[in-house]
Amino acid sequence: MTRIPLNSRADFTASILLFCSVFLFFTSGISSSGVVTLESIQIFRTHELLTAPTVYFSCQGQNKTLLPDIRKKNTLYTFKGEESWQPLAEFLTKKCKRCGFYERDVVLSDDVFDEWEFCPSDFTAPNGEYIRFKDKEFNATFYCPECVPLGKGWNHTSGSDNGETKGKGRHLALVIFITAVASTGFIIGAVVSFGYWLRKKRMEDRARFLKLFNDIEDEMGLG
Ligand SMILES: *[C@@H]1O[C@H](CO)[C@@H](O)[C@H](O)[C@H]1NC(C)=O
Ligand SMILES: *[C@@H]1O[C@H](CO)[C@@H](O)[C@H](O)[C@H]1NC(C)=O
Repeated sequence: MTRIPLNSRADFTASILLFCSVFLFFTSGISSSGVVTLESIQIFRTHELLTAPTVYFSCQGQNKTLLPDIRKKNTLYTFKGEESWQPLAEFLTKKCKRCGFYERDVVLSDDVFDEWEFCPSDFTAPNGEYIRFKDKEFNATFYCPECVPLGKGWNHTSGSDNGETKGKGRHLALVIFITAVASTGFIIGAVVSFGYWLRKKRMEDRARFLKLFNDIEDEMGLG
């Protein structure tokens, strides 16, 4: 039996490692989700006259997130992102959600600070922040670094954006480039290993043949 030489085995391992890392890079880009936390908020008015406000955040079809700290207007509240009620929302695709800040009303229906289409593409590099400001109502800063690539993602539903297509193209080009480099490395590794193995096998065959030949010669000599 011919053993695969150590050298080519190392080549093979390196190729496999490279291949795996590219695969990981690929899947991490696809499966990352955008967790949104609230960094800071300041409200400029309250809608209740007598009691302290009860402010909450909500996206359509999802649970309300109560913001228990906000009691006064014109006060800047900042958060670490680890508060019990965080995160505020999560984006799985680049699709927007209809979300808003509301104030609970004891008697009538709840008051609205603002309700808008909240999109991963709102978050901008380099910090992954998004500032939502509505005059005389509030100013809020959201944080979601994973939303920046997500907003430029592949699950493209509408063609209403222009700057995004460029980013998407660049990302795709990078992926293709890396895949090409990895495949090339893999193929070269395989070819080199095979060539090495073939040469070694041929040398062993020749040695065996020579040995056989010598043996026969010896026998004939003896005879
Ligand atoms: C809303 O909260 C309830 C109870 O906390 C939970 O069972 C349910 O899954 C939540 N729904 C959503 C859409 O998050
Ligand atoms: C809103 O808040 C952010 C962060 O605190 C601040 O940088 C920005 O200037 C504020 N904008 C307005 C209009 O108050």
